[in-house]
Amino acid sequence: MSGGGALETLRVRGRSRALAGDVSVPGDKSIGHRSVLFAAIADGRATVRGLSGGEDNRSTIGVLRALGVAIRDVATGTVEVEGRGLDGLRAAAGDLDCGNSGTSIRLFAGLLASRPFASRLVGDQYLHARPMKRVVEPLAEMGARITGEAGKKPNEVYPPLAVAAATGRLHGIRYASRVASAQVKSAIVLAALAAEGVTTVVEPERSRDHTERMLAHMGAPLTVRGLEITVDPYGWDRRLAARDLTVPGDLSSAAFLLGAAAVVPGSRIVVRGVGVNPTRTGVVDALRAMGASIEVSDERLVGGEPVADLSCTGGALRGIRISGELAVRAIDELPLIAAVAAHAEGETRIADAAELRVKESDRVAATAAMLRALGVEVEEHPDGLTVRGGRGVGAGTVESHGDHRIAMAGAVCALGAEGETLIRDTKNVATSFPGFARALAALGAEIG
Ligand code: S3P
Repeated sequence: MSGGGALETLRVRGRSRALAGDVSVPGDKSIGHRSVLFAAIADGRATVRGLSGGEDNRSTIGVLRALGVAIRDVATGTVEVEGRGLDGLRAAAGDLDCGNSGTSIRLFAGLLASRPFASRLVGDQYLHARPMKRVVEPLAEMGARITGEAGKKPNEVYPPLAVAAATGRLHGIRYASRVASAQVKSAIVLAALAAEGVTTVVEPERSRDHTERMLAHMGAPLTVRGLEITVDPYGWDRRLAARDLTVPGDLSSAAFLLGAAAVVPGSRIVVRGVGVNPTRTGVVDALRAMGASIEVSDERLVGGEPVADLSCTGGALRGIRISGELAVRAIDELPLIAAVAAHAEGETRIADAAELRVKESDRVAATAAMLRALGVEVEEHPDGLTVRGGRGVGAGTVESHGDHRIAMAGAVCALGAEGETLIRDTKNVATSFPGFARALAALGAEIG
């Protein structure tokens, strides 16, 4: 990377040579957040290995430390967390900084809702533009008092979030969520652990289930039936067992490498040790449907999560339609899929993905702008995009819009194009995938 200031730039040379080799990716961001956060409220000490070192996970660790949790850096990617038990967090001296991380702010809102002390959750300019009513509303129904700021949309709630000291126990609710969101589900579940009575969350589609898997593994009174998650603390001893854990490689990061192999002719790569939880593997299904050949091998269970090696060989690509549950299972990978679609014959329609508009950026608009900058024909819809692929992709200058996944999707699209592309404002790549450019360069890409 060049630059050195806040606005670093990646230079990508397209189609210089086929990609080949064998790499691993940093630890899963979603599992990383949960591993340290849940360990902090468990009884006993847990060692967490394989953390990505990404900024989002570091934000969660920083907030936990501010709440009095001892987290010791033991080695790169390894921390030791001293669990403080379900009721052991202390008031922080100042604001709790969640940085760019939506998962951090929403999970902490749920965790702190039941505490006898007040907290204030803040973040960067992008996080402050993200909707919080989806967690504030159900938590208020449970008896929590959380206030946010007004913002772009009337009736929406934005950070900073002020969480008032709870005056009594929260109470259980039955909540039908309008959005399929693991962050919303997890915030409610965390509040429910400390509440009186039974709480049930019903999702419209199944979102990633790392919270359910990990908490159940730690002894939480949680059951899953179809799209319903129930926490029934009656008779529970209110103790979560500390568990050592190894975080699998992040499929959402591996996806960019698989996508790169799909768009650079003649490529064949292997990514080892990647989480393949079925609530996350929509991108594998989508790339296969587009014509990439992806093999999943050596599947094993690590800490209750399925992990495997993934290989990808490029081939002739064709456009597809992505909607419904597939859109949910590929939600973070849709910009990457759109980038691959630019190199596929025919139309790719991404539908039922309005959630993309409220991610780290408006990812519908940012993806469309990224593709247009590379000469690709694309149409925006309220709930997604249509990409008209296979008509040639040119070189250009792409803006990340402050969003790590747009920067990386732009780089992948450019790798399959003719000529040299600049991706601007790429420091944010470290949010989830520190070493992204290095990993691609190790596979033979000209990027840096
Ligand atoms: C995440 C859930 C998803 C995902 C985000 C991480 C999580 O968001 O997009 O990158 O770790 O729970 P939503 O819960 O808003 O769908």
